[in-house]
Amino acid sequence: MSDITIRLAQPSDLPALLAIYNHYVVNTPITFDIEPRTLAQRQEWLDQFSSNGKYRCFVAAEGNEAVGYACSAKFKEREAYATTIETSVYCAPDRVRKGIGRLLYTTLLGALEGEDIHRAYGGVTLPNAPSVGLHEAMGFRRVGTYTQVGRKFDRYWDVGLFLREMR
Ligand SMILES: CC(C)(COP(=O)(O)OP(=O)(O)OC[C@H]1O[C@@H](n2cnc3c(N)ncnc32)[C@H](O)[C@@H]1OP(=O)(O)O)[C@@H](O)C(=O)NCCC(=O)NCCS
Repeated sequence: MSDITIRLAQPSDLPALLAIYNHYVVNTPITFDIEPRTLAQRQEWLDQFSSNGKYRCFVAAEGNEAVGYACSAKFKEREAYATTIETSVYCAPDRVRKGIGRLLYTTLLGALEGEDIHRAYGGVTLPNAPSVGLHEAMGFRRVGTYTQVGRKFDRYWDVGLFLREMR
């Protein structure tokens, strides 16, 4: 792996993060967004994260360029869900299988250790061997499946539910 630094996402990362995400929006069922996101929509998404607390976003930077990111977000709005987070991780398509996903998740999960978080869930559109492999490598286990919960590219997709107990 060339020199990769993991750091908190910053506003100047937005265009790179948008490009990474939109690649998967347009070309894959990995995310259930169907239309590419705009900068403004992605700005709103980025605004949910902060430098401390439960909701954070880390990027993998090569020089100044963000080539991947991992985030923890609210699982659901209602208050009793507050001790649960949903995690996600994306690497630029030309940077996969270089250890970046593992580095990102390790940093994110480590940073969250002191927080009042009981459960982390990741949703994985199936099949996705790299994501299943990464989640299992990071201590998640598959606890269920939403069958045919999304339709994209004219077919239905299952989403595997991956759970990590946080304490
Ligand atoms: C899923 C993703 C984040 C994994 O990150 P990555 O940088 O490619 O993975 P790493 O190189 O850090 O690998 C970490 C572990 O994940 C697993 N893994 C990664 N790629 C794999 C593959 N192709 N098949 C099986 N397991 C794989 C392995 O356990 C690996 O550990 P190892 O290298 O010691 O065998 C990355 O492939 C990606 O961005 N994919 C497209 C977007 C995506 O699917 N995001 C997840 C949405 S749920």
